Amino acid sequence: MIVFEDVAHDYGGGPLFRDVSVRLDKGSFHFLTGPSGAGKSTFLKLCYGELLPSSGKVTLMNRALQSMTRDQLAETRERIGVVHQDCQFLDHLTVEQNVGLPLTATGRPLRASDVSDLLTWVGLGTRAEALPPTLSGGERQRAALARAIIGAPNVLLADEPTGNLDWEMSQRLMMLLIELNRMGTAVLIATHDLNLIRFAKAQVQARVMRISGRRLQLAGSEL
Ligand SMILES: Nc1ncnc2c1ncn2[C@@H]1O[C@H](COP(=O)(O)OP(=O)(O)O)[C@@H](O)[C@H]1O
Ligand SMILES: [Mg+2]
Repeated sequence: MIVFEDVAHDYGGGPLFRDVSVRLDKGSFHFLTGPSGAGKSTFLKLCYGELLPSSGKVTLMNRALQSMTRDQLAETRERIGVVHQDCQFLDHLTVEQNVGLPLTATGRPLRASDVSDLLTWVGLGTRAEALPPTLSGGERQRAALARAIIGAPNVLLADEPTGNLDWEMSQRLMMLLIELNRMGTAVLIATHDLNLIRFAKAQVQARVMRISGRRLQLAGSEL
């Protein structure tokens, strides 16, 4: 679904990483780790076409990113759900409206029952009418997850989704991501939390990639 061939990215100060070749297949589960500043968020941005690679080739859903039209990119992005690191919401809209936004904003049909089922699944069934500023950190992360998957994406990308959460809440969120993967969605999670990776690896077959020394390496079995 997402294929990198000899990809490098450079913001202008020298390559952040280079020679990256990797495939994220249907139904797979990947972690991306590495120290702060290594390029994890940059890697995710390449995975949903927010950035173009400086060299090499990125293919999203069988189409070369570099040759997509705007419409093709928009269509491709509808199949990729993203949980951003900072999870911003429209604060004057309810949780329910925010979660439905990816569909309503692109003119796709939205069924109220789909939103309420999804909110129940992430444990926010009673918070549908709440405004985002009243949510706790864990609730925000779960609302962001619901919003990322309302359009039934083939791939879910999550950037440090447990960054501000305590361990119990991190485990809850991870269980939702594992369940989503079991239902067939490919999942890629950027995190520097090795405990979280160990927790997930006890329940799902996950590959761990690490950005280190400007290369993408597959982490060994020590994790
Ligand atoms: N838009 C940008 N322009 C220039 N440099 C950037 C930009 N975004 C990120 N960087 C730099 O690229 C490096 C990697 O950033 P990032 O991908 O956010 O790393 P990570 O998510 O692993 O912490 C950092 O040094 C960061 O300052
Ligand atoms: Mg980051």
